[in-house]
Amino acid sequence: MLRPKAVLFDAYGTLFDVYSVAHAAEQLFPGRGEKLALLWRDKQLEYTRLLTMSGRYQTFWEITCASLRYAVQRFELPLDPAGEAHLLNQYRHLSAFPENKAVLAELKKRGIVTGILSNGDPAMLSVAVKSAGLKELLSHVLSVDAVKRFKTDPTAYSLGPRALGLPAREILFVSSNCWDAIGATWYGYTTLWVNRTGVPLEQLDTTPTRIGSSLREVLSFFPS
Ligand code: 2OP
Repeated sequence: MLRPKAVLFDAYGTLFDVYSVAHAAEQLFPGRGEKLALLWRDKQLEYTRLLTMSGRYQTFWEITCASLRYAVQRFELPLDPAGEAHLLNQYRHLSAFPENKAVLAELKKRGIVTGILSNGDPAMLSVAVKSAGLKELLSHVLSVDAVKRFKTDPTAYSLGPRALGLPAREILFVSSNCWDAIGATWYGYTTLWVNRTGVPLEQLDTTPTRIGSSLREVLSFFPS
């Protein structure tokens, strides 16, 4: 198997725990927080696809705000401006999954170039990376905002090889979102799908290069 020379991570859901906003939502709406967080995330992704398929663009932050408004209306939840600001603030400062920092630190020790390739816009990513304490551990933070097309559009994935000066197959692309791992596989990356919750593989006749259950699996691609 070809040994990759660098690694790019998806951000939301992979490095940052997007469902941690469910906790904040649960406090506002007991018994309905998880449902709200799930629809919020699904709508957010649906809007990225709708916009890119129609040749339109709004920033990921604008989409994040719009999809929250949709989810709240859909469930007829009484979210006042202060509650909305609270949830959006939580989204800006998501927690990282517990193992991530140690994995990134180990990659740095092994001399591996690391980065993010995300739908998030630069301002969002910068706040998230800083508040999760990952700033010193990532050499690149690539945002699709540079091309105004969301993943899984090939133009979005092309940012990685361009920034790293490596062919896609020599870059390991890591995502906890199966659709993203598959999009990156189609583009030509070596891929790892981190299936944290044990959900089924998307039925699209494509399997990522490897499937793991924790970000620690990344280290097996880069022996020390
Ligand atoms: C990303 O960070 C949306 O999780 C996706 O690109």
